[in-house]
Amino acid sequence: MSEIIAHPETYFRNLVPERSDLLLALEEEARREDIPIVGPLVGELLYILARATGAQKILELGTATGYSAIFLAQACAETGGRLTALEWDDAMARRAAANLEKAGLSAWADVKCVNALETIAASTEHFDFIFMDIEKEDYLPALAHCARLLRPGGLLLADNVAFADAAPFNRALHEDPAWREVSLFAFLPEHSPEHDGLCLAVRMGADTFKG
Ligand SMILES: C[S@@+](CC[C@H](N)C(=O)[O-])C[C@H]1O[C@@H](n2cnc3c(N)ncnc32)[C@H](O)[C@@H]1O
Repeated sequence: MSEIIAHPETYFRNLVPERSDLLLALEEEARREDIPIVGPLVGELLYILARATGAQKILELGTATGYSAIFLAQACAETGGRLTALEWDDAMARRAAANLEKAGLSAWADVKCVNALETIAASTEHFDFIFMDIEKEDYLPALAHCARLLRPGGLLLADNVAFADAAPFNRALHEDPAWREVSLFAFLPEHSPEHDGLCLAVRMGADTFKG
């Protein structure tokens, strides 16, 4: 049987996707200012999932400077979808809007300066894809609202689920029949931090396979 590649972290670090000068500048800014962005691997994963599912309505909870939003909005530009990105820090929300503009993607994305938890609690809008990246202790209270706002078959991706504050969310999601989920603990070059968990879940519902 074939063996695992020697020094897999070095090897996979060399397979990180190429990115634009703007994204590289945002990564440099994030390092300098200690902004915990998803980095190129999870960014590309967001693009791939949004593109492959053809998600028309995408909601991002926690946007910071707009790094992850750029990947989601790129998919929207190709599928005719639309991203709503929620960020409660006014300066960050402005930077995110400016960066989406620089990326030529502002036609596909709205950045709203709001408390994401309060906004989803008050919302009745339905989404195809929700990306969760707010304070980890808010993941659990956000979960019931995500279940209500995601259409059956809709996708939830939660970042940083290896943080202790995300543990109650992980357990609740794992035990809730409203979801099918996988939690992955992964090496994620240039993610903050590089060893972290990602959770992918699909909202079960009327189209659930019962066989
Ligand atoms: C991990 S950073 C987001 C990084 C971004 N998703 C990226 O990868 O480019 C988390 C952001 O969520 C914001 N945030 C945290 N809790 C929030 C809340 N309840 N409502 C809105 N924004 C929130 C913080 O201000 C911070 O900018």
